Amino acid sequence: MTAGDDAVRNRAVWERPEVVDFYHALDLRPRGEEAILEKLASWLAGKRILDIGVGGGRTTRRLLELSRDYTGVDYSLLFVERARQAFPGVRILHCDARDLGPFADASFDFVMFSLNGIDYVGHADRLRILQEVRRVLSADGCFSFSSHNRDHPEFGKKPWAEDRPFTWNHIKTCLRAALFLPRHWRMQRHEVHEQDYSIVNDIAHDFTLMTYYIPVAKQIAQLADQGFGEIEAYDLDGLPVISESEHPWIFYLARKLPAKSS
Ligand SMILES: C[S@@+](CC[C@H](N)C(=O)[O-])C[C@H]1O[C@@H](n2cnc3c(N)ncnc32)[C@H](O)[C@@H]1O
Repeated sequence: MTAGDDAVRNRAVWERPEVVDFYHALDLRPRGEEAILEKLASWLAGKRILDIGVGGGRTTRRLLELSRDYTGVDYSLLFVERARQAFPGVRILHCDARDLGPFADASFDFVMFSLNGIDYVGHADRLRILQEVRRVLSADGCFSFSSHNRDHPEFGKKPWAEDRPFTWNHIKTCLRAALFLPRHWRMQRHEVHEQDYSIVNDIAHDFTLMTYYIPVAKQIAQLADQGFGEIEAYDLDGLPVISESEHPWIFYLARKLPAKSS
């Protein structure tokens, strides 16, 4: 398997009509994301925003409340078409985060890649995305995204092994997961387990995706390595995380640092 295979495999999932319908209907304001947007709200007024992986447009609505200078992008044409229909007249383009070539250096003040969208590329592509985001950000621009936390206690467990009460909904989840186990066994062969991160086939969308998981401290170090500073992390309750958390998703905010002079 080559480094780009995860991205190719995942992209096909984001082109599936039932997945597009799911995100189009998604009405969610995660508290970690809100903590970051509320903190930035007054600074963001009128700023140039790039929203990567707009999906069905969940964040388009939210970010337009903060600034009308908004551009959304997604590499799934189906998502782009759906978001354009939902927000006529809003600038929504077909573009891959790994190559933000259509945008000049320093053309945005705030870039967001919400709901773990950055977790659906391999490791080298993730670093490429961080470099592309840094390039298109203005001198004191900010980047916010969320990512799967590898320290989550249920990481790598099947739903029936999770430490939770057996409700009817959970039983239905277990039965559905069992149905798709043969696919999981095939996908599992492509998993990657490194010291700093893992790329695994979790239960999302019936075991169709390869997903990047990283501990908070490692994500903070990765951002620092890629030229970001003033890094903050928030959990699903919107509470700050210092270096460890057991929450499944973590929301990050980081500021672009000037290039190091040699
Ligand atoms: C989990 S969905 C989240 C959708 C939306 N941001 C939301 O919060 O509802 C991830 C989105 O990221 C997009 N995406 C994943 N990798 C991408 C890439 N390399 N470039 C652009 N979009 C990407 C997918 O097509 C999908 O729309």
